[in-house]
Amino acid sequence: MSLKNKHVLVIGGGSGIGFGIAKGAADEGAKVMIASRSAEKIAEKAKSIGGTSAVLDVSEEANIATFFKEHTGFDHIAFTAGDTDGLSSGLLSDLDLKQAAQRFNTRFWGAVAVAKHGAMHLPPGGSFTFTNGMLAHRPLKGMPIVSASAMAAEGLALGLAVDLAPVRVNCVCPGLIETELFARYGEARHQMLKAMSQKQLIPRPGMPEEAAEAYLTCMRNTFMTGQILKVEGGIALAN
Ligand SMILES: NC(=O)c1ccc[n+]([C@@H]2O[C@H](COP(=O)([O-])OP(=O)(O)OC[C@H]3O[C@@H](n4cnc5c(N)ncnc54)[C@H](OP(=O)(O)O)[C@@H]3O)[C@@H](O)[C@H]2O)c1
Repeated sequence: MSLKNKHVLVIGGGSGIGFGIAKGAADEGAKVMIASRSAEKIAEKAKSIGGTSAVLDVSEEANIATFFKEHTGFDHIAFTAGDTDGLSSGLLSDLDLKQAAQRFNTRFWGAVAVAKHGAMHLPPGGSFTFTNGMLAHRPLKGMPIVSASAMAAEGLALGLAVDLAPVRVNCVCPGLIETELFARYGEARHQMLKAMSQKQLIPRPGMPEEAAEAYLTCMRNTFMTGQILKVEGGIALAN
């Protein structure tokens, strides 16, 4: 089971885990398209792996509908789009519900719209692979909405696996992965991520390509659907 000559779309593929997926698929001989909001970034990243790029902001359903009218013929779609919208920590009594709802825009409703408009273009046995996060399973104090939005993506993947069969739908659940998501912390991020990962059975942040391998497995393995694949350095078992 190889991705050679398969058409792979990575939404959110201009950096981090998504770029790891795009590069891994391209290395295997897949025809890869990267999509996200930043035209220049994705054009450059796509060129570096011999792929193509297309601008797409998944926060508006209309953009996604237009995208799938213009781009078809995919075998596999990975969805790693996510920003820091609605990512906050604090007292529940201070929670701004409108701001908290934004946490679901890209990760959840974006994923719903991609499934809605993209599914008809996938062949039987083709796949979606969505993304949640270990905060779904190991919540941190002050971040219940982040946990809920991660769990929502997981529930969506299971529901869609039933709904869209024989198209396969899986979800990867990354733990702490060192990516551009933490760029806002500058150089301090290396120390911060090292400290945050100390309790893990593998006490270091994961690399994007390690997380990417789980998505590539979900694409390749034609008997896999409705699965949540954790890549998290053993944090689930940590004391
Ligand atoms: N890194 C971790 O430790 C970790 C852990 C658990 C879960 N996750 C989740 O895994 C996913 C990927 O994270 P990452 O670490 O690889 O982060 P990343 O490097 O920041 O990648 C996220 C990508 O999403 C794209 N994006 C953001 N908003 C978008 C939108 N509205 N439409 C289309 N594309 C959009 C961004 O590109 P543009 O700016 O060009 O749009 C960016 O390339 C995220 O959902 C993140 O929450 C990450």
